[in-house]
Amino acid sequence: MDTPTKTNIPLINLLDGNHIPQVGYGMWQVSEDKATDLVLTAIDAGYTSIDTAMIYYNEAELGKALKKSSVPRDDLFITTKLWNDSHSVDKTKVAFDESMKLLGLDTLDLYLIHWPAPEQNLYVDAWSSLIELQSEGKIKSIGVSNFHIPHLENIITKTNVSPVINQIELHPYFQQRELKRWCEDNSIVVEAWSPLGRGGELLDDPVIKSIAQELKRSPAQVVLRWHIQHGNVVIPKSANPARIKENIDVFSFQLSPQQMMSINSLDRGSSGRIGPNPDTANF
Ligand code: A2P
Repeated sequence: MDTPTKTNIPLINLLDGNHIPQVGYGMWQVSEDKATDLVLTAIDAGYTSIDTAMIYYNEAELGKALKKSSVPRDDLFITTKLWNDSHSVDKTKVAFDESMKLLGLDTLDLYLIHWPAPEQNLYVDAWSSLIELQSEGKIKSIGVSNFHIPHLENIITKTNVSPVINQIELHPYFQQRELKRWCEDNSIVVEAWSPLGRGGELLDDPVIKSIAQELKRSPAQVVLRWHIQHGNVVIPKSANPARIKENIDVFSFQLSPQQMMSINSLDRGSSGRIGPNPDTANF
């Protein structure tokens, strides 16, 4: 881990020499009409990393926020993702250009393949395109999302280029220990989507609530702190300004080893999965 940024968000080192802030603002299901204001709220609160995707239909609204914000472009870390219908070499480049136009950016910090969509068997082609776009200087870092070990092995073997990040569903009910260990062993940073388990049952879990009471923190802060201490990058989503602020305020307290172990014991294995299974997901 590198030194904290001026907003005290630690930077995580990536394999290619770049860095990603450990907490970012996730834009999944952030509606078009509210997205620009919410991103500006997040940036005002101190977020420097924003995560969107072509399929979230809010890249243009993020672009508007970036134009309005007084924070210099170089101080922000912007991620977007390639959708599954654009995995061929040519389509990937067209989709990337469209995203960049909507975002109003010349250079992207991180571009991810959103899902492997293995039934199409085109994700290696998409990966080769990302490598080219990076070599042309249009993207600083390239990675993947929702990739399982065989998908990761496949792109690395075929191209000799490793993704720097794998963004996956990960929360205390679905800890993905084998995949996380494999990524760590291969120096691939794990970024957790739905780090709060979408905010439902998990935030009401008696174990989480009791730790929250002990520490005088909210259940969401306890869960995010658990991720931080495991070295995960997190991108909590909230459409509520108070929660947006709360979710970044996770660097001035710590969970004890016992508290970490209690949360570790909440893992439900594969039955804890909320989203689609990348092996079978067919969008
Ligand atoms: P809201 O947008 O009303 O704040 P995840 O990032 O794991 O997918 O979780 C997102 C869900 O969790 C959203 O429904 C969001 O609701 C809720 N959420 C986000 N932050 C908090 C928080 N600090 N406390 C409670 N719920 C939260």
